[in-house]
This record gives sequence, C-alpha cells and structure tokens, in this order.
Amino acid sequence: MIEYNTLSEDFRRDRFAFFRELRDTAPVHLDEQSGVFILSRYDDVQMAARDWQTFSSVGPAANPAVPRLNDLDPPDHTALRDKVSLALTTERMLGIEDALRDDVRAVVQDLVARGESDLTADCFRPCLQRVIGRLLGLTDDQAHECLEISDLFVRGIPGEPAATPTAQERFPALFVPLIMARRQSPGDDLISALASVGSDGSAALTDAEILFFLLGVFLPALGNNAYALATAVELLGAHPDQRAELVANPSLIPQAFEEVLRFDSTTHDSPRVLTRDVTLHGVTMPAGAQVLMVWASANRDERTIDNADQFDIRRERPQGLSFGFGAHECIGAALMRIEARVVLEELLAIAPDFAVIEVGPRIRSTWIWAHESITVSLA
Ligand code: HEM
Repeated sequence: MIEYNTLSEDFRRDRFAFFRELRDTAPVHLDEQSGVFILSRYDDVQMAARDWQTFSSVGPAANPAVPRLNDLDPPDHTALRDKVSLALTTERMLGIEDALRDDVRAVVQDLVARGESDLTADCFRPCLQRVIGRLLGLTDDQAHECLEISDLFVRGIPGEPAATPTAQERFPALFVPLIMARRQSPGDDLISALASVGSDGSAALTDAEILFFLLGVFLPALGNNAYALATAVELLGAHPDQRAELVANPSLIPQAFEEVLRFDSTTHDSPRVLTRDVTLHGVTMPAGAQVLMVWASANRDERTIDNADQFDIRRERPQGLSFGFGAHECIGAALMRIEARVVLEELLAIAPDFAVIEVGPRIRSTWIWAHESITVSLA
C-alpha cells in the first residue's frame, strides 16, 4: 500500500522514487490514511489546475472570516486577485532589484573573506528578510518578526502541538496595527497600496483581506524563496559544467532557475475539492472528495518531459508546474524570479568557483522541501 506521507522516512529519503511509483502504478491514487486522491502525472495535474469548476479551491480550510486567494473560486477569486494585482505591480517588484543587488554583493564579498559559510543562514534569509522589510515598509525588528513567524508556520506540523505564542497569534499582532497606521497615513509601501482606495474605488481591500494576503506574501517570500535559492546552489554545485556555462553567459540564469524549480521544487502539492464525480484512469473520484495535485511529481513526468530526471539548464519547454497553473498560478512568481536572478548573478560573479561542502538535513515540514543549511566554500 502506498502511503502519501511527506514526513515519512521513505519519502524524505527519495521523494522522486516515490512519485515515479505513483505515476507508473497508480496515477489516481486513493491515500487510505487521509482519504485524499493523489494526482501525480503532468497532464492530469495540469488538467485539474485548469478546471477550477470541477477541482474547486473552496476546501475544508475555507472560512469567510479568513479571505485567502487560495481558498476561493472565480468569480470571488478573480475579484480579489484583480484588486491585489493593482498593488503588486511589475514596477513595484522590479523596484526591489537595486537595493537587493547592493545588499547581496556586500554580503557575499564579506563571506568570501570569511571563506566558508552557510549561504541560507548567512545570505539568503537575511537578504530576503530585508527585501520583505522594504516591500512592506517595516522596521528591521518587524521584518525579523516576519521571519520568525514564517519559521513557525513552516515548521508547524498539522495535528502536533504548536509553539506558544503561535504564528496564528503573532502575525495579526504584528500586522493589524500596521494596516491601521497605513490607512491613517499611507506611504509608498505594499501595505499602503493594498489599503488605499483608487480614484474609482477599485483597490480597496478590507482589513481581513489585507491581513491574509500579507500572510500569503511574507510566508512564501521568506519561507520558500530562500530555500529555493539554496536548492539552486546545491544543484549548480553538483553540476559544475552547467554552472560554468552560467558564469560565461549570465543571461541563461532565469532559464536555469526555472529548471531548478522544475527539478526539485520547494513545494510538493496543492489541494482541491471535487464539485462532481470524476473518472480518470479507470478510478472514480466522488463529488466532495479531496484531491492533491502533486506539482513536484508532474515536473518529473517523462511522459511529458524528455529526460525528466536530468538537470539541464538548457531546457526551454515544457517548463515545470512549480508555480502552479491556471487561475491560482503563483502571484509571487515575479518576485521570486527577480530575487533569483539578482542573487545568482551576484553569487556567480563574485564566487564562480564556490564548492558545496555540506547540505544539512531536510527540514521537518509538510509545507516546504528544503535543507536546513547549505555550507559552501567561497574562497
Ligand atoms: C519558490 C517560490 C514559490 C513557489 C514554488 C510557489 C508556489 C506556488 C504554487 C504552486 C501556487 C499555486 C497554488 C494552487 O494552485 O493552489 C502558488 C500560489 C500562490 N503564491 Fe506562490 N510560490 C512561491 C513564491 C511566492 C511568493 C514570493 C509569493 C508572494 C509574494 C507567493 C504568493 C502566492 C499566492 C498569494 C498564491 C495564491 C494565488 C491564488 O490563489 O490566486 N508565492 N504559489
């Protein structure tokens, strides 16, 4: 019996062997432990993500008091996403670039002088914490509080006792006063933009909508992006020939980062709930059943992707599904892509010959797939 348990030893040892078994032997797999159907092939995952009328995001976690994009279907989803998009503009995202570049350059130069470093702790986390701080207009202490809350969420295991005070208590304590302050006295930060009313009234979000959108911004932006960068370092360390190509031709960096995410995404899956019976590969999933779309498995499906188990920065199409697909496709992908481009450009320019000395153990999390640390020699 195949059990879909992302915390099990088997899964953590080699999640891709596990995904391959699912794709080959049980493409629609009912996980008996949880009662959830697992979709693991590229075409099936993409089909489910596209068909929001059948594969609904309004699942058991949906709560009108907690308005989150992830828990809505169109037209409610479209209305909220449109309002949020007015604040999360390309211009605002690109606006992080110069300060991030200066920051990363200074940090990496410093680390080169030191010789050896855990890049996650010494560079990616602090630099991305400062990005969030600048984006949201936070003090250093407030941005650090975001990082700590994000860590609590990442490491919180559903069903296990939580730390005290919990992330659920700490994040409104931090942001509710900030939202109120920005409504009174707006600045040019993202919170003010979300709180402000455009001339046609279009950008007005409620306090709850802002609060839960912010959670959806700083959680992945801190708890996901830093670890995705660490995965990039791990893979480029293991493929020196491809890293040399990037050093010689940095314009390949964006494409290489897409390949990093395809090859070893920091997230596993996303949930949906069926609005009607669906039969796929001879298995009928009844209306009301929960379904998991396993992006990280779809990304390695050799039915759609040639040599899927090979890391290849020259690969162009098809890309993986790490940022999701369809109506809920990641709204933060632009931020992640800019951060990845800037950080990898600087790292490869300053320390092109870095060597990975040690990758730490996997973080115990149902939400993130990442190592605790990545120690490199930069000298
Ligand atoms: C490596 C980095 C990231 C990965 C792999 C990732 C992955 C994903 C995936 C797979 C989805 C689709 C979920 C679904 O279909 O149910 C998603 C949605 C979302 N992501 Fe990301 N994400 C990343 C970074 C970010 C960042 C930096 C932000 C915020 C700035 C962000 C905010 C969101 C939000 C708000 C949604 C929900 C969108 C919606 O439901 O319309 N993500 N992300």
